[in-house]
Amino acid sequence: MIDNEISDSIKTETVFSLENVDIFYGDYHAVRDVTFTIPKNQVTAFIGPSGCGKSTILRCLNRLNDLNEIFRLTGTISYHGQDLYAPDIDSVEVRKRIGMVFQKPNPFPKTIYDNIVYGARINNYEGDLDELVETSLKRVALWDEVKDKLKQSGLALSGGQQQRLCIARTIAAQPEVVLMDEPCSALDPISTLKVEELMHELKEQYTIVIVTHNMQQATRVADLTAFFNTEAAEKGSKIGYLVEYDTTQIIFGSPHQQDTKDYISGRFG
Ligand SMILES: Nc1ncnc2c1ncn2[C@@H]1O[C@H](COP(=O)(O)OP(=O)(O)O)[C@@H](O)[C@H]1O
Ligand SMILES: [Mg+2]
Repeated sequence: MIDNEISDSIKTETVFSLENVDIFYGDYHAVRDVTFTIPKNQVTAFIGPSGCGKSTILRCLNRLNDLNEIFRLTGTISYHGQDLYAPDIDSVEVRKRIGMVFQKPNPFPKTIYDNIVYGARINNYEGDLDELVETSLKRVALWDEVKDKLKQSGLALSGGQQQRLCIARTIAAQPEVVLMDEPCSALDPISTLKVEELMHELKEQYTIVIVTHNMQQATRVADLTAFFNTEAAEKGSKIGYLVEYDTTQIIFGSPHQQDTKDYISGRFG
């Protein structure tokens, strides 16, 4: 749970640091008092039952919740030591550095090529666009499958290919962090394995944070795992909180908290 309990072997530079984070949607207190750090060039997984705040917290990491008028956050989230919610921070810039891949593959209704270069064009990218397309698609192991149909619609691809296209589009924007919210839940098992393999490759260059409801997936892909749970709160509502955070090996092998043990054995057993 506490940062210094994470084994030194896995600890690298800190990218995100959350301190006493509480999150509200209007009057509803969704998440209470979350404190932990996310290290660079690792895969960190968020697990826990539905409604415990995994997506909410993930979306706070690139200020995606800003677009929601009833959203409110207290406490601090810093990114490389800088307060991500300070008034002078440009949330558009934040989202350039911290990319997001969603549950349902969402390619733009454009060609495969135009999907990849979309962000680059907006940002007046000065490099070679063809090269950007090729490198990005190679990084997600999609190049061989699509190199002869770059002018076809991204929507014509299979679900698994669409999700890899979305990941390629995200990394073509050259972010530092890639957030993924249940990126495989709409995919078949083979596509899921491809995306999981991809995470292993991508973490050399990017910091990855993934929400997954699939605990086996967390054991396969994540270096670190944060287990969130819910408890009863006022007016019959539920509030999410962080139970325990540690290496994936410890969370799934010898967790410190009884709640973590129960959750893990319940799902695995
Ligand atoms: N946009 C929103 N407006 C109001 N409540 C929300 C919104 N998004 C999520 N919530 C609520 O916040 C809690 C946490 O949701 P969420 O982060 O989606 O959980 P998880 O991803 O762990 O399933 C839930 O009770 C959910 O209903
Ligand atoms: Mg969710």
